[in-house]
Amino acid sequence: MKRRIGILTSGGDCPGLNACIRGVARASYSMFDAEIVGIQDGYSGLINGDFKEMNQSDFSGILTLGGTILGTRRTPFRNMRLIEDDHVDKVKAMKNTYKKAKLDCLVCLGGNGTHKTANLLSEEGLNVVGLPKTIDNDIWGTDVTFGFHTAVDIATDVIDRIHSTAASHGRCMVIEIMGNKAGWLTLYSGLAGGADVILLPEIPYNLKTVAKAIERRAEAGKDFSIIAVAEGAMTVEESRMKKRERAEFRTETHFHGIAARLAQELEEMIGIEARPVVPGHVQRGGTPSAYDRLLSTNFGVHAAKLIKDENYGQAVAMIGNTVGHNPLAAIAGKTKFVPEDAQAVKSARNMGISLGD
Ligand code: F6P
Repeated sequence: MKRRIGILTSGGDCPGLNACIRGVARASYSMFDAEIVGIQDGYSGLINGDFKEMNQSDFSGILTLGGTILGTRRTPFRNMRLIEDDHVDKVKAMKNTYKKAKLDCLVCLGGNGTHKTANLLSEEGLNVVGLPKTIDNDIWGTDVTFGFHTAVDIATDVIDRIHSTAASHGRCMVIEIMGNKAGWLTLYSGLAGGADVILLPEIPYNLKTVAKAIERRAEAGKDFSIIAVAEGAMTVEESRMKKRERAEFRTETHFHGIAARLAQELEEMIGIEARPVVPGHVQRGGTPSAYDRLLSTNFGVHAAKLIKDENYGQAVAMIGNTVGHNPLAAIAGKTKFVPEDAQAVKSARNMGISLGD
């Protein structure tokens, strides 16, 4: 049995992409007669016909490598059916490349946007398998995504290191953690790093409540505080705005990001010295943790099994400690937000950590 497999990585990169690509490749070569075609820079390579024949040695030595050997790009799903100035029919172009490369199937490693396009291609008749990567951990139907744990480790290390300088200066340090829509990374690293205040997009905050939490610490003799704030955290007032209005407001007021805004507001409100810290893309860089290497490998091997069984139109997932899969159609377009009753939310509240609400 022979299978010709196209692989692409799309959206923001993260640690574990190469480990996952390697898992798909190694398991495919070992389980059946596989030929692998690497598609450059995600869907943009599929649109532009930018692909290359891979061989077994291409997948050697990449287990610990950060980023992606295939390159990646953001190609927004909302534009996929849009004919833009270049007059390219993107969906038709992707189907043509699939045909030209003589693919039996396409493996798409990516986040929510990637899975929406993967589902679109599946609906268009292509054989597609999705693999859940993102440091945001917000893909529906899977308990965890690869890349997330490494990012939690990195963000936690940032918070750990901030503690000593915050304590030395008696400052309030506001650390902006990645996550525009979902707060998993901020919640987990905030809790693991011992943050005093954790602000998530899912739980709108009140500035006065945050200020009070810091003042309470000062009253208890602690003259420094650590706030872990998600990029997408918002005030109660912002949460009541319409999406577009909020976007405009945030562009005007968050020019340097939410941490800078919050640090300034807190300085003005309670007179504490505050500093913003933005680790940014460091959170997505470097070698994957052992956990993520294992997760990516298990996910990649499962994708190869789906290909062997010609069980297409699926997204690989971790479901209750077992690697499995969900139909792409069932998960595409959904986001796994932090629920109010998440264990870590309950733990934070029970420990007296302020969530700003
Ligand atoms: O989706 C991963 C992520 O790192 C988000 O946490 C963040 O909001 C976004 O990507 C940043 O995107 P970019 O790398 O395009 O600036």
